[in-house]
Amino acid sequence: MKVLGIETSCDETGVAVYDTETGLLAHCLHSQIDLHAAYGGVVPELASRDHIRRLPILLKQTLEAAGLEGGALDAVAYTSGPGLAGALLVGASVAESFAMARGIPALPVHHLEGHLLSPLLSDDPPAFPFVALLVSGGHTQLMRVRGVGDYALLGESVDDAAGEAFDKTAKLLGLGYPGGPQLAQLATQGVAGRFRLPRPMLHSGDLDFSFSGLKTAVLNVVSAPDWDPARMADLAAEFQDAVVDVLCAKALAALKKVGLKTLVVAGGVGANRRLREVLDAALAKRGGRVHYPEPALCTDNGAMIAFAGAMRFAAGERGRGEPAVRIRPRW
Ligand code: KG4
Ligand code: ZN
Repeated sequence: MKVLGIETSCDETGVAVYDTETGLLAHCLHSQIDLHAAYGGVVPELASRDHIRRLPILLKQTLEAAGLEGGALDAVAYTSGPGLAGALLVGASVAESFAMARGIPALPVHHLEGHLLSPLLSDDPPAFPFVALLVSGGHTQLMRVRGVGDYALLGESVDDAAGEAFDKTAKLLGLGYPGGPQLAQLATQGVAGRFRLPRPMLHSGDLDFSFSGLKTAVLNVVSAPDWDPARMADLAAEFQDAVVDVLCAKALAALKKVGLKTLVVAGGVGANRRLREVLDAALAKRGGRVHYPEPALCTDNGAMIAFAGAMRFAAGERGRGEPAVRIRPRW
């Protein structure tokens, strides 16, 4: 079974083909980071226009790379939400039209299901059930995953997502866009603990998170009269540790609550080295293990959507039958 996947929910155009027998056949990605950098954030209108420009080219490249220009595809999966409405519309329109032209089903996929299942694309995939920690620019969630489509939300951020906190704090420190990776890089040159930032909701007794106060705490440090910019790396290290400490504590609490020892980490913040170190050590100590997606599949991409679609198609899902552009920006 071969499924084409299309991702256009935010600032990455991703197209891929997943074959349930042989794995990923092709995977093409275009990032719009340079386009939005001058504005310090994603400009929705520019994102939509760029998806329109790139998607036909990537589609052609992906089909050529997979050797599938003529046919042999079984379904088209596309990100139906959550995301920017205009950006989602581009992928949905192309996917539905393509499916109609080829007479194959179009399957709307939840963007987070893509992230959640992306570690299953690795050479050494986790077995079900597991707990997933989703840490992206838009979401911070803990889920219990029993199988494809069997997800229970255990906890989530009540305000900013972890990636959003990294990005906003990086902006506040003048580190550029999107900021998370730059802040993590700066943190490697600093020492945590020289500043003391809060660990929000660490002892809240539930599995929820809150990161907006952390950004405010950083703002208070840098607006104090005695602030010394030479200590920026120490502040970055302490900020990173504060986020990592809370993510790790809550992930462990979630595993304990549901009685599991396998943790899957997905989403852009999953690329953070300090987070990986701390989680790996904590799970090793408990006889458990952490699985991550391949580095190239940590951020948004078409492969995870093709894969999620293929799993749903294999489970018997066939879409609605008639073409309809289905987007759910706030899904
Ligand atoms: O999953 P993703 O590519 O897009 C969303 O669906 O949001 O995640 C992007 C987020 C951004 O906030 C980015 O700053 C953050 O992941 N990120 C990082 C690192 N690499 C990416 N945050 C901390 N450390 C990193 N190394
Ligand atoms: Zn994402």
